[in-house]
Amino acid sequence: HKHLLGIEDLAPDEIVALIDRAEAQIEVSRQVEKKRTVLRGRTQINLFFEASTRTQSSFEIAGKRLGADVMNMSVASSSVKKGETLIDTATTLNAMHPDILVVRHHAAGAVHLLARKVSCSVVNAGDGAHEHPTQALLDALTIRRHKGTIRGLTVAICGDVAHSRVARSNIIALNALGARVRVIGPSTLMPRGIERLGVDVFTDMRRGLADCDIVMMLRLQRERMAGAFVPSVREYFHFWGLDQEKLGHAKPDALVMHPGPMNRGVEIDPEVADGPQSLIAEQVEMGVAVRMAVLETLAEHLPNA
Ligand code: CP
Repeated sequence: HKHLLGIEDLAPDEIVALIDRAEAQIEVSRQVEKKRTVLRGRTQINLFFEASTRTQSSFEIAGKRLGADVMNMSVASSSVKKGETLIDTATTLNAMHPDILVVRHHAAGAVHLLARKVSCSVVNAGDGAHEHPTQALLDALTIRRHKGTIRGLTVAICGDVAHSRVARSNIIALNALGARVRVIGPSTLMPRGIERLGVDVFTDMRRGLADCDIVMMLRLQRERMAGAFVPSVREYFHFWGLDQEKLGHAKPDALVMHPGPMNRGVEIDPEVADGPQSLIAEQVEMGVAVRMAVLETLAEHLPNA
C-alpha cells in the first residue's frame, strides 16, 4: 500500500506483518544508538488538526530514528487559522515535496480525502470517530507480547464506543486476528448497528467483563458530544468506570489497557490505571515501535526506494 488510512484496508496477514516488524523495532528503541537510515533523505510532515501527545510525539521520534527529516506543522499558528481549507493546506505542503504526511483531523474521512489530493504517502493518525490504525496495531502488539497470541482471547472494549476511532480500529483488527470482541457501555454511547462489526454488546460492566482476558477502557470524549452528556459523569464512573471490584469479574490474569489520554476517576480508577494489571505505559512504548514499522513499510513503496 502507498498509504495507511485504516485497518479496514489491511488483510490479516498484513496486520501480522506490521506487528512482527514492530516487534523487531522494540529492541532498536531500547539500544543506546537508536538511529537507522531507511528514511535518510526523506521528509516527513506531521499535520495534526487535533490535539495529541502520544501519537504526534511517537511519529516524530519514529521518523527521526529511521533517519527522516521530520517537520511538525503547527496548525494553531498556521494559515488554517486564517480560513485556509484542509485541501489547500495539504496541496501547499505537497508542493514542498514531502515523502510522508502523517495527518490527524476531527472529521471522519478527511484523511482519505487528503490522500487523493497529494502525491506523497499519507498515514492516518486519527480521523474523527472513524479510524486510528496505528493505535490498533500498537494495542495488538501489546496484547500479543503478554498473552502470546490474540486468537481465542476475549477482549472487552468499554465506555464511549460511539465517539471512538480507537474502538472501531481495534474491533476490526482484533476480529481479523481471531479474538472475540465485546463492547460494553451505556446505550447512549453505543453506536447503532455496532453488532455488524462482529461484537457482542453489553450495557452491564460486570456481565460484560465476565471471563475477559483484556479490558480496554476508552476515554469519555466530551469534545465530540454536542449537548449534555447522559448519564452524568458521577453516574458514569459508578456504572462504567473501571475499579478493582469490577475488574474482579474479568479473569484473574486479565490485563487493563487505555489508549490515553485518561480521565482519571471518570472511566478508570487511578488505582487500576497504576496497578499491576495495567499495560498503559507499555502501550506508549509499543506506539513508537509500531510507528517505526509503519514508516519503514511505507518507505519500501516510496519512489526510488
Ligand atoms: N492514544 C492517542 O491517540 O493519544 P494522543 O491523542 O495523545 O495522540
